[in-house]
Amino acid sequence: SRVVKLAVIPGDGIGPEVVAEAVKVLDAVTVGSEVTFEKTPFSLGAGRYLETGDTLTDDDLAAIASHDAILLGAVGGVPGDPRLADANIERGLLLKLRFDLDHYVNLRPSKLYPGAAGPLADPGDIDFVVVREGTEGPYVGNGGAIRRGTPHEIANETSVNTAYGVERVVRYAFALAERRRHKLTLVHKTNVLVHSGGMWKRIVDAVASEFPGVDVDYLHVDAATIFLVTNPGRFDVIVTDNLFGDILTDLAGAVTGGIGLAASGNINPDGAFPSMFEPVHGSAPDIAGTQKADPTAAILSVALLLDHLGLTDEAARVTRAVENDIASRDGVRTTAEIGDAIVRGVQA
Ligand code: NAD
Ligand code: IPM
Ligand code: MN
Repeated sequence: SRVVKLAVIPGDGIGPEVVAEAVKVLDAVTVGSEVTFEKTPFSLGAGRYLETGDTLTDDDLAAIASHDAILLGAVGGVPGDPRLADANIERGLLLKLRFDLDHYVNLRPSKLYPGAAGPLADPGDIDFVVVREGTEGPYVGNGGAIRRGTPHEIANETSVNTAYGVERVVRYAFALAERRRHKLTLVHKTNVLVHSGGMWKRIVDAVASEFPGVDVDYLHVDAATIFLVTNPGRFDVIVTDNLFGDILTDLAGAVTGGIGLAASGNINPDGAFPSMFEPVHGSAPDIAGTQKADPTAAILSVALLLDHLGLTDEAARVTRAVENDIASRDGVRTTAEIGDAIVRGVQA
């Protein structure tokens, strides 16, 4: 039988609440099967920082990296908490994991499931995947500020785009489009960001010649937000940079029934490092501790994790149980009630 070593990082706020449900579903779908998940919990996030002053030690990172995969809830404290003023949990923990484990594909599927309460009157069929670059762009932290606090303060943040980094994620997106509906949309802002946008465009055009069966189009990111609301059915695979992908996927979550349903995978396709699966949403301090969080995004992240590990039957059972649950939703349920209902669906 196969053993999968899984690092579990519940994190802060609603993170532990939704991860508890995701783990229940993972256990339910693997019980009595050929695969066993050996789970190691890691206490990381704003809570850990406030206790110990650590964000992510070298030992933590090495221990996490020795696992086969990672499940993460959400990290980040209450915005404005003065005790976190000198910390940057997001950069020092979440982005550090994505960068050091070379998660260059941030895979964020969006599907409007029947019964999901989306905001659009006439949404049509929505089923697309955002392939967000995960290790470059404005996220690299290559910037600085001088004359801080003076009227002449200068603050810079540089977007780093390498031909190598762009090509590998673009190639992944084309291969994905080839397995789906053969359509790829590059989203950027080439009219203003001429250097990086120009390079992304040239690389997409070059790789396109290797995938003659894939239709390619291009949208500026501002226009892409229009179409995500007015005609989301036009998208199949969207490939875009780290920051645009962050923004578009919160919007995509909203149009497909809420951020509580949006799952993601931070993938290292080469398999050199463990990939990490997490909801798109954050720690939601506004509802933390109230059992109001929807655990579905975390549970669908488990489905992505199972798929990534080649456990496609198990992944399909989780997705089907979620689909059935969404189709039959009415009334307000707690986080645990939703998790329990999906567990029962997986067992059925
Ligand atoms: P957020 O995603 O935490 O919350 C935005 C809104 O969505 C809130 O109203 C929240 O209640 C709601 N929401 C989020 N998840 C939900 C769920 N599962 N069910 C129901 N409602 C849900 O974004 P934010 O408020 O901008 O950020 C809060 C903290 O989380 C910040 O510290 C931020 O940096 C961090 N964050 C972490 C991650 C991550 O760990 N991957 C992602 C985004 C934000
Ligand atoms: C996300 C989050 C992160 C991001 C933050 C918390 C660093 O918003 O996973 O979407 O910007 O990538
Ligand atoms: Mn985000």
